[in-house]
Amino acid sequence: MVEPVRIEVGLGARAYDILIGPRLLEQAGAEIASRLPGARVAIVTDENVAAAQLPALQGGLEKAGLAACVIVVPAGEQTKSFSQLEHVVDGILAAKLERRDAVIALGGGVVGDLAGFAAGIVRRGMDFIQAPTSLLAQVDSSVGGKTGINSPRGKNLVGVFYQPRLVLADTAALDTLPPREFRAGYAEIAKYGLINRPEFFAWLEANWQDVFCGGAARIEAIAQSCRAKAEVVARDEFETGDRALLNLGHTFGHALEAAVGYDGARLVHGEAVAIGMALAHRFSARMNLASPDDATRVEKHLRDVGLPWRLADVPGGLPDAEALLAFIAQDKKVSRGALTFILTHGIGKAFIAKDVPASEVLSFLRENRTG
Ligand code: GLY
Repeated sequence: MVEPVRIEVGLGARAYDILIGPRLLEQAGAEIASRLPGARVAIVTDENVAAAQLPALQGGLEKAGLAACVIVVPAGEQTKSFSQLEHVVDGILAAKLERRDAVIALGGGVVGDLAGFAAGIVRRGMDFIQAPTSLLAQVDSSVGGKTGINSPRGKNLVGVFYQPRLVLADTAALDTLPPREFRAGYAEIAKYGLINRPEFFAWLEANWQDVFCGGAARIEAIAQSCRAKAEVVARDEFETGDRALLNLGHTFGHALEAAVGYDGARLVHGEAVAIGMALAHRFSARMNLASPDDATRVEKHLRDVGLPWRLADVPGGLPDAEALLAFIAQDKKVSRGALTFILTHGIGKAFIAKDVPASEVLSFLRENRTG
């Protein structure tokens, strides 16, 4: 057995481990029992992940004598809803789990957000374990305690910060991911290099093919990403300061997702973030904040790995620049014609820019809409 990589999220009395390595689900029982002695568990998962990964997790729990009930939800973003939250909460209560029992989220970001929110509110807070099975969830959403559901008025508008007691990132689960989903998750890995780890970005430029092939390079990329995220979360758990840097690429990206009506056939979240990161670098160069060479370097890397990087890469076309700006304004607070963006002074030098003129963004979108 390969020894997992262990990274601590340093939150004092609420500190927890992220374990990263192949076939960790098979050891889940031992890892949970040593941290939560006597706990019973409810596994929350979706229909697709249940077919691929549930037997490994159930086997791992049984080996340690842990009893588990299973709550299955439909796959897809629509599952982050009040009705599915009620379904999960009811399943946990029906199984008569207590506060010191645990909810395990087995799946991608949707399952993690929904199950984490349910764990945070049932009996005013049960123990919670993340077992992320998508690349995006392993490097981003499973770490840091953001949980919640969508409202008809927007994404992630209802939820709580609720930290897990353990994150078990089984890298073998990634072997069955569709290539497009893996690539989209990779955008969030590149993001950590672009925020404040220029050496990591350079390492990715040299080693991305090995990361895509699996093995040690993939584990290293996931571990570096989790270290970067753990560091930010420990510093700014509730996003009152520089946790917002993790939104690099997300302001443009969210607008693009909204512009395609959240149609995953056209654009998934990680792809929107990839385009958003390229735009954030190009826009920073246009504002004379960074060298255009850095924007070109980011665009090249995203293109090399097969990610979309410009507005023209969104299949089916986009609305005009004014409409795109309206989507940006809807997502972010506009104050006296100024917007908040994550911009950059270069690779690994991202910063929070609170006073970006909407008129500059509009001109930039006009220039770039047709790529
Ligand atoms: N995914 C961004 C954050 O956790 O803050």
